[in-house]
Amino acid sequence: MSADVFVWVKDLLQSIHDARISNQEELDAFRVRFLGTKSEIKSLFGEIKNVDNDRKKEFGLLLNEVKQAAEEKYESLKTLLEGQTGGQSDSGLDLTAPCEPIAIGSRHPVSIILNQIIGIFSRIGFTVAEEREIEDDWHNFTAMNTPPDHPARDMQDTFYLKDSTTQLLRTHTSSVQARIMTSQKPPIRIIAPGRVYRNETISSRSHCQFHQVEGLYIDEGVSFADMKQTLLYFAREMYGPQTNIRLRPSFFPFTEPSAEMDVYWGLKTEDDYRITKGSGWLEILGCGMVDPNVLENCGIDPAKYSGFAFGMGIERQAMLRYKVTDIRQFFENDARFLSQFSGVI
Ligand code: DAH
Repeated sequence: MSADVFVWVKDLLQSIHDARISNQEELDAFRVRFLGTKSEIKSLFGEIKNVDNDRKKEFGLLLNEVKQAAEEKYESLKTLLEGQTGGQSDSGLDLTAPCEPIAIGSRHPVSIILNQIIGIFSRIGFTVAEEREIEDDWHNFTAMNTPPDHPARDMQDTFYLKDSTTQLLRTHTSSVQARIMTSQKPPIRIIAPGRVYRNETISSRSHCQFHQVEGLYIDEGVSFADMKQTLLYFAREMYGPQTNIRLRPSFFPFTEPSAEMDVYWGLKTEDDYRITKGSGWLEILGCGMVDPNVLENCGIDPAKYSGFAFGMGIERQAMLRYKVTDIRQFFENDARFLSQFSGVI
């Protein structure tokens, strides 16, 4: 006999713990079942007389525990359901206590650098142009003076869409130049930030996706000197007022002449030697005068208009600024990496 009521009372305690209550009806049913005049607990109290004398005390304690558990659960759920906000409830649950602060995110380092670049160029009248990442062959290559079979196509390993020979993930933001020139009339003064893709092996130094900012300025009488001055202004805003630049002759199919711009980084520390490969100069962007073929391809008269263009990688600049040594970190969304940029705008 004794053993049975012990099992009963333990089952009851378990049922109290297990009871799931989410509305008033369920709460009422809970009260009737466990605390009402005809509750099982009441009946169990009536069983005390049948318990062996030497276990009566143990049984009594257990019953009290069950009763208390039912009362406590009932009270705290009642408070919660009624939505009482009047301070400390009987259950010890303080409903007015301030909650844990919600961790606010931080700006991604690529966005921080990009916002700075946009700010610098918007101060001299450049507007932001955003365009598609899935491009066609014509805007990405052909219009940019890189016809099919041109060897320069090998400079950028391309992801083509499945079963397509013309649809691709843009390999550079230069495709936006073609989009803008075919849809707007000069004067054109834009920068085009965005993601680009290349079929490259992922390593600490290169990734299959990264970000670029393209610049394009087309008007009557735009000269190489205008480009140089614009880029010098940019470098000094970005890297400090004493920054010096140099332009090295280079080749890009869509500009003629073409150049690469370096900023003087310095050679004070061992790191400076490593980053600049011992020269003190750091390559930041490619640029040049828009090739007349490109203007013609896009329906702009090269006899009337000229312009300059430039393109730069954003991750590279973020790596330099924040001393990030592995480009993959920008794409892994690891909160331990990203939270280091909280507070930076
Ligand atoms: N599109 C080039 C690249 O991804 C960068 C570039 C070079 C853009 C020269 C330009 C430019 O607009 O004039 O490597």
